[in-house]
Amino acid sequence: MSGSLSPSALSRLLGAWNLGAAPAYRELADVVRLLVLDGRVPLEVALPSERALAATLGVSRTTVTAAYSLLREQGFLSSGQGSRGRTCIPQAGPRGSRGGGVRANLSGAPGLAVPDGILDLAYASLPASGEVVHRAFASALTELPAMLPGFGYDALGVHALREAIAGHYSAAGVPTTARQVLVTSGAQHALNIVLRTLAGRSDKVLVEHPSYPNAIDAIRAAGCRLVPVAMPAAHAETRSGARPGWDLEAIETALMQQRPAMAYVVPDFHNPTGRLMPDSQRRRLVRAAASAGTVLVVDETLRELNLDGAVSTPLAAFSPAVVSIGSLSKSHWAGLRTGWIRAEESLIQRFAAARTTMDLGGPVVEQLAAAHLVNALAEPLPARLASLRENRDALLDLIAERLPGWEAERPDGGLSVWCRLPAPISTALAVVAPDFGIRLAAGPRFGTGGAFEHHLRVPFTLPPEQLETAVAALRSAQDRLEASPQLRRDLGTPPAAAIA
Ligand SMILES: Cc1ncc(COP(=O)(O)O)c(C=O)c1O
Repeated sequence: MSGSLSPSALSRLLGAWNLGAAPAYRELADVVRLLVLDGRVPLEVALPSERALAATLGVSRTTVTAAYSLLREQGFLSSGQGSRGRTCIPQAGPRGSRGGGVRANLSGAPGLAVPDGILDLAYASLPASGEVVHRAFASALTELPAMLPGFGYDALGVHALREAIAGHYSAAGVPTTARQVLVTSGAQHALNIVLRTLAGRSDKVLVEHPSYPNAIDAIRAAGCRLVPVAMPAAHAETRSGARPGWDLEAIETALMQQRPAMAYVVPDFHNPTGRLMPDSQRRRLVRAAASAGTVLVVDETLRELNLDGAVSTPLAAFSPAVVSIGSLSKSHWAGLRTGWIRAEESLIQRFAAARTTMDLGGPVVEQLAAAHLVNALAEPLPARLASLRENRDALLDLIAERLPGWEAERPDGGLSVWCRLPAPISTALAVVAPDFGIRLAAGPRFGTGGAFEHHLRVPFTLPPEQLETAVAALRSAQDRLEASPQLRRDLGTPPAAAIA
């Protein structure tokens, strides 16, 4: 991202920033830092000149100069040319290098290593099922020589992997041939291919609200208009013991009234709530999408993380028109960067054509290894699920004990707990969190229009001892906010954010 932010745009984003609870320069720096961390101010954007911003905000130039100096010192503003520094995120240097301590530990961009001492609660991801993955690569290397005489380009994917994925769907009750499978570099890549093929600029795309932040960003980046449909709140219903599920009536109404080109859903297990859609709702959803002429795109990235062994039917079993997206990122390792699309053969051909505008195929060794992994998909799962169940229970207990006022929804599967907070402090919590040794993804990243300030997704990917430290840190962060009302302000509606 590059470009510049006008003084008036920054002023709008800042809102009522100077409440007088601290020196003005510090309040200004705090709120800009919050906006950068939350993605409301993109990275690599030039902030307004000191003079222009001072004039727009009605403060002295010294205030803006001091705020910018503080942001530079904290690593949120590059030195840049002249006074127009660009927004950035502090880089973690080697231990003991300049900028150590909490400030150097802040990282907010996807893929940045999280330095020692910081617990990452922004990512819901696991380390590799190491031995299983390593063995698959060893086998792949022995198979590689047979592939070397070929060109190595294959927009659809290596045949052995497509066969394996097709076999996996067929075994799950969705008869599938290799011609109905396209291999991708992960589920996010798959979604982008589907969007490029099926959704034009300004087309409507229905999403659950909340939903997976990178999917929301991809849909926005494709120029589509989001049609968010609220997931029923858990806090009222879980007390009565009922599972909250999806609001099918609201989805049916939105489909009929808005006629979106596409609907993106995560029924197994919904990110961030961890819910599993019951089969009765799946049937209704497929029927409603068909009547509205909407292509149903189902993201099954988390499907294998079935913590309680609940039985559900893949959505594609209800209609051949369903487009399914899958991935090895959660069952095995995100570092494999291997996912897929399963759809009708004619659509797969269109996806392959769209894909070649982005890349010409995936790496062969990875796909050969992935074929082994898919052929024995369940192999790493018992161990993975056992530790996830233990982590989930530990996290729920810790939240109940240490964070009174938080309402945590017990997930059926997936990697995280969606919590309702006692106050709209999610973004503010994410801002102060690194000072307490944790990194958070604020609730509004999971929705549109600034929703979910009352919510936080807390992954249970860390072992219980680290979860205990993390929950203690959440408590300290919350206590800090209670003592610092200036950090709890409502910053208004965030614009499209580009940071995961
Ligand atoms: C629902 C959902 N879809 C897609 C992804 C991204 O998957 P991949 O790593 O395969 O691109 C994730 C990762 O968290 C996810 O939770």
